[in-house]
Amino acid sequence: MAKPKVLVTRAWPDAVQNRLAGIADAVFRNPDTPMTDADFMAAARSYDALMPTVSDRIPAVFYEAAAGNVKLLANYGVGYNHIDLDAARSAGITVTNTPGVLTDCTADIAMGLLIATARRIGEGERELRGGDWKGWRPMHLIGRKVSGATLGIVGFGRIGQAMARRAHHGFGMKVVFHNRSRVAQDICDAHAATQLDSIEDVAAQSDFLSLHCPGGIETRHLIGTRVFDAMKPGCILVNTARGDVIDEEAFFNALDNGRLGGAGLDVYQNEPGLDPRFLRYERCVLAPHLGSATDATRAAMGHCAVDNLEAFFAGDTPADVVT
Ligand code: DGY
Repeated sequence: MAKPKVLVTRAWPDAVQNRLAGIADAVFRNPDTPMTDADFMAAARSYDALMPTVSDRIPAVFYEAAAGNVKLLANYGVGYNHIDLDAARSAGITVTNTPGVLTDCTADIAMGLLIATARRIGEGERELRGGDWKGWRPMHLIGRKVSGATLGIVGFGRIGQAMARRAHHGFGMKVVFHNRSRVAQDICDAHAATQLDSIEDVAAQSDFLSLHCPGGIETRHLIGTRVFDAMKPGCILVNTARGDVIDEEAFFNALDNGRLGGAGLDVYQNEPGLDPRFLRYERCVLAPHLGSATDATRAAMGHCAVDNLEAFFAGDTPADVVT
């Protein structure tokens, strides 16, 4: 049987590219830049499968054009809010993702951002690099204590639970969370975590609030004025989920009126465009979407996407079918 024609939209780790080249007639786009609408329209008629990722803006017209030709979108990444699932379904295109393999690294960076923001590591580094450090003194860059504080989590799936484990077992934090569906008591107990009925209830109790829900229309601006108004004053917000989960206007207001004490952010509404207001706040630690950016995890994501592709073209059901 002929090998499937596959387009990989961005550069991947060499080992995974080599593996894919062995099982598919693969094209690896070079340069490593976002696909344009024209690239997508050309790909719609030229490939059996595309392997896109979070930074690919797939135009609405792609799906109809790809119908009957592209059979699979094997996404490199767990989040798929950049893919229109209804349109893919109507066009007969299967969509897969890469859950599980990036859980630990994403929770690690969430914990890192939480600590960096609470303990003002970004401000301190800027001071030091600027040659402005005047030495140790009792009242220098006083931050917030993490150990023993209360962490609120929004979204208690794999990554939310991994965050809870780190916070509770590593830092003795009390954990409260909100999740759309009821979480089994044994899972709550394993993380010493308490499920509350609303995000506002979670925000009201939390010294730190960390977001771990999926992106997409259902969670767009989930963290807005109502949540900020309910917050314990001075709460620190951490977002490693998706930028549009936060209403950025309400976010800046909350920083200005002191409701929000600071934020550790890895994701933004219009990536890579950054609202310049973020740069004004020393109390924000800003990372450029690095949640899964370790050598082991980026390779594991690639292998997972290739496993899904291989299974699909072997006529089996891939492990990670989204639709
Ligand atoms: C994902 O997989 O959805 C991440 O945001 C990229 O690591």
